[in-house]
Amino acid sequence: MAKKTIKDISIAGKIILTRVDFNVPINKNTGSISDDSRIKASLPTIRYLVEHKSRIILCSHLGRPDGKVVKELRMKPIAEHLSYLLELPVTPVSDCIGHEVSKAVQNLKDGTILFLENVRFYPGEVKNDTNFARELASPADIYVNDAFGTAHRVHASTVGVAKFLPAVAGLLMETELITMNKLLTNPVRPFACVIGGAKISDKMSLMQNMLNKVDVMFIGGGMVATFLKAQGYNTGKSLVENDKLEMALNLLLEANKRGISLILPTDVAIARDIRGDSLSHITSTSKIPSNEYIVDIGPETIDLIPQELGNCRSIMWNGPLGIYEIPEFAKGTKAMAQFLAYTSANTVIGGGSTVEAIREMGLVDMIDHVSTGGGASLKYLEGKTLPGVEVLEDK
Ligand code: 3PG
Ligand code: MG
Repeated sequence: MAKKTIKDISIAGKIILTRVDFNVPINKNTGSISDDSRIKASLPTIRYLVEHKSRIILCSHLGRPDGKVVKELRMKPIAEHLSYLLELPVTPVSDCIGHEVSKAVQNLKDGTILFLENVRFYPGEVKNDTNFARELASPADIYVNDAFGTAHRVHASTVGVAKFLPAVAGLLMETELITMNKLLTNPVRPFACVIGGAKISDKMSLMQNMLNKVDVMFIGGGMVATFLKAQGYNTGKSLVENDKLEMALNLLLEANKRGISLILPTDVAIARDIRGDSLSHITSTSKIPSNEYIVDIGPETIDLIPQELGNCRSIMWNGPLGIYEIPEFAKGTKAMAQFLAYTSANTVIGGGSTVEAIREMGLVDMIDHVSTGGGASLKYLEGKTLPGVEVLEDK
């Protein structure tokens, strides 16, 4: 069921605890934010709250400080960057509960913003401790969850606080849910799913759920080895998850039974070692020698991308098609990114490393929806509920 959002309630003059996911990558050497897209993605929510004269308390986690204060994971630089993007003052508070917070909240005026310290500096956050959640909620009138990227976690700031406050979704949360839900319930067809990544075990639930929804499923990445082995092929030195062979075979049979076009690579790039300077060559998937690794899809398979996905109207992609961190083995991933950037189909990308690859290529703006959630989008597309969404009020 659809969830209430900040547009469904009255917020003027109200103190609003707003959970965002500003868990952004920080450059280790310079301490600067290397990708601010998660911050930008929540700007519409924050601007809406400002324009409607709410008193805003923002909170987020950063990294995994394990319940202790870690200097490098303080929120102040992020609050400063947010202030720069909003062109408005954002006041950082050096704690997320307690006296200092209540003092700062008392001085909060309509349309102004506080930014609490990293909620994971307290062990109660990830334990979803009731007392910690109560304290976090105590200065506020309303809770808004805009942290789609953390909605799969049962933490105090994503789930616990909703016990103490009326809870609604922010605008980013709403957009993410509408987009994913459309794919799951009513995609414009033909609908294709492109699924890659190293391990089949990480993506099995996704593939099984998507098999009920798609017209085409295109599979790449390291997990191809398990599909090949399941069909009796040699897979060289590639990682095979032997306990998933039967599931892999069943998936192929099920796709066939339902008339879904399931595309596995017909050729692959192979190399002696997983290093860029290791000589790689192309072979048919039926002729993989025993001393080599599969490192990418091959050119014949790359040619299948426009052939098989060319007439699709919706395409969802999760997971790189080769070892894309090594430029020599990134050809398949790059070809898919290029194709998705220029197709007229509605394109949705989820999953941390897939988004990273697209971003590195400068193609992010050419994709219709790039999810801010890796784990969260995966879980949602597996057909599971997100605890941080469950606790929000229904429309
Ligand atoms: C993420 O980046 O995956 C989210 O912010 C959640 O962070 P976590 O994986 O540390 O819970
Ligand atoms: Mg994560």
